[in-house]
Amino acid sequence: MLVEDKVYQTVWMEGTSVFMIQQNLLPFQFKIYECKTYWDTCIAITDMVVRGVGAIGAAAGFAMAQAFLSINTKERLKMIREARSDIENTRPTARNLFYAVDRVYRAGLISVENAVEEAQAVASEDAAFSKAIGEYGSELIHEKANILTHCNAGWLAFVDYGTALAPVYLAKRQGKKVFVYVDETRPRGQGGRLTAWELKNDGVPHVIIPDNAAASLMAQGKIDMVITGADRIAANGDTANKIGTLGRAILAKEFDIPFYIAAPTSTFDMECSTGKKIPIEERSQDEVLYQTGTDDNGNLIKILVCSPGSGAYNPAFDVTPAKYITGFITEKGVVKADKLSIEKLIC
Ligand code: MRU
Repeated sequence: MLVEDKVYQTVWMEGTSVFMIQQNLLPFQFKIYECKTYWDTCIAITDMVVRGVGAIGAAAGFAMAQAFLSINTKERLKMIREARSDIENTRPTARNLFYAVDRVYRAGLISVENAVEEAQAVASEDAAFSKAIGEYGSELIHEKANILTHCNAGWLAFVDYGTALAPVYLAKRQGKKVFVYVDETRPRGQGGRLTAWELKNDGVPHVIIPDNAAASLMAQGKIDMVITGADRIAANGDTANKIGTLGRAILAKEFDIPFYIAAPTSTFDMECSTGKKIPIEERSQDEVLYQTGTDDNGNLIKILVCSPGSGAYNPAFDVTPAKYITGFITEKGVVKADKLSIEKLIC
């Protein structure tokens, strides 16, 4: 996608280094971050320099390739297995991380070149899948649609295009008038910071709403459809996504509003039979207690926004049961959220 007239992808690998847009500085500063070792890439994933399921997957695949490129000792295989587990321990919910690491690990057992090629293939596929999701999803968007989205499942969350936002970008290019209500998405504010930044860059009309406004807007008939991304989808269609998604889904059902999940097939976890088995990441309480921004001179600052001395509980994701989901928008088409449709999709 374009940033100040230059084409960028969210994460890429050149030589032995992995480069990524430094998302934890957005929307205040736009910088590229270099990870020279697999361990640097692990830290970048944990610290959310790179985030969003597809971008995490691509970064993790590249980290696995970096491990194959750099580890050359007598106990090579043992150390590579340790590297694999370091990478897998960075973000527990994001399905694409495990998908990418597994593919690159298997390829690397044949040769180091294979590992690098496979990591590049995972990243290219992620962009291609997102593009196709945009094509299928744009058909669901009618003229003058008002769309609600939660968190950031735009191009920053993938290698390019995004999932929840790809249909919106394409609908706009097709000449449809669309409007997006962007959930702020506390505690980290991926909606207010990243989705809003993306939509503004692309000239998509939008407004940021507080997380507690969705019910009222739906009750007033202001929302025509909801599209969100997914971090992991179980075999029965239950879907883990950013905390707060479940509430939007229940509301959408109550107000008879279509609720779509846009996700590539690489986010489906067929070994996970139901949403109850999806591991849910718990993040630092600081994300709830503090907010970051910039002062008048553009310096990043962190301020306490809660009562001093109180603690916080911060689960990063919730699970939306399949019964609330109208359909999945995937790179292979739009499918119903039931076990049989998912089995057909994945086979
Ligand atoms: O914690 P994050 O920012 O990595 O959360 C993941 C997400 O961005 C969302 O849950 C998103 O809606 C799905 S990932 C495209």
